[in-house]
Amino acid sequence: MDSHIKSPPTRRLSTGERENAIDRTIPLFPPAIEIDEHNYFDNNEPPEYLEDMIRGAQEFVSFHKNDRVVLVTSGGTTVPLENQTVRFIDNFSAGTRGATSAEYFLENGYAVIFLHRQFSLLPYSRHYSHSTNCFLDFMDEKDGKVLVDPKYQEEMLSVLRKYQTAKEKNLLLLLPFTTINQYLHTLRALSVALQPLKSRALFYLAAAVSDFFVPLHRIPEHKIQSKAGGNKLVMNLDPVPKFLNRLVDKWAPGAMIISFKLETDSSILLSKAKQALERYSHQLVIGNLLQTRKREVVFVEPNAPVLWIRLTPKQEAAGIDIESLIIPAVLERHSAWIRESGGSV
Ligand code: PMT
Repeated sequence: MDSHIKSPPTRRLSTGERENAIDRTIPLFPPAIEIDEHNYFDNNEPPEYLEDMIRGAQEFVSFHKNDRVVLVTSGGTTVPLENQTVRFIDNFSAGTRGATSAEYFLENGYAVIFLHRQFSLLPYSRHYSHSTNCFLDFMDEKDGKVLVDPKYQEEMLSVLRKYQTAKEKNLLLLLPFTTINQYLHTLRALSVALQPLKSRALFYLAAAVSDFFVPLHRIPEHKIQSKAGGNKLVMNLDPVPKFLNRLVDKWAPGAMIISFKLETDSSILLSKAKQALERYSHQLVIGNLLQTRKREVVFVEPNAPVLWIRLTPKQEAAGIDIESLIIPAVLERHSAWIRESGGSV
């Protein structure tokens, strides 16, 4: 060891400092009511592309007027700190849950609107896009031509066929978002576009949505300068209105709604999932822990015992997606929902 190299002096954070880093004095934020909806949507402008997106979604819904259509939300929303954005706060989600679930919905006859964080994982391409390999590692060269490496041929052919079928049958509509504002405007507009489908519409809200944001009128136009206000950057974030109950009651009455609950502390997962169900009165909360989300989830629904869905160690080792177990269980519940709503399955 080189005795000349000395670590710079460090200062341990006291527990008090950690606890006070975030101001938690603001009371629990209630579900949004009509006035909150007006306040938010009147004061935070829709993205410029929204009208085009709505038209595309309406065409898709009318094309699938006799089918089941699921809106899958996927990936994390950002909170820009500047209007011409250099810095932003992000929410964790690679988009694996959403993209993988979308594939199983498609395999089970659903048309899918995939509202996703731009550049997060997409159905089918996810197998090759963000993997530890570069996509070029799946390729090979023969006689001056680029080919798929023979060892990936079989699997890629199967993925390619499913992807092409989805495209040919117009079963997959990809719609991107980046910011929390784009997400909320788009979610509301899509909910309305899906209304004609009534109980055949399913909402599968796997996106990780920001809880706090900077309202439009407080966002500085340009990059925040490091020397402007001393050494600290003190942020004042407003809570994002909890729109899930507006979605259930007003934006998508009749549709089946599934939300997700992500926690990192296993001791509060079930209580938080139950709390969400009570607050929003929707049909299903799927709880998951960050650490184990790829091998177990829990279904929390009204008038039913909680149901854990788990991969066995053997299934995990074989690379089975947990979504291949989640989606059939969701489907069963959606069929029951359509029947109870008086529709034919
Ligand atoms: O993409 P992966 O890496 O595979 O990770 C998947 C996942 C862990 C992100 C996913 O499985 C998951 O749990 N997603 C939900 C994360 C979460 O807890 O989000 P939330 O606490 O921000 O929101 C909970 C629910 O309320 C969501 O369904 C959301 O749509 C809804 N919500 C949230 C905020 C808000 N203002 N209004 C809402 O309606």
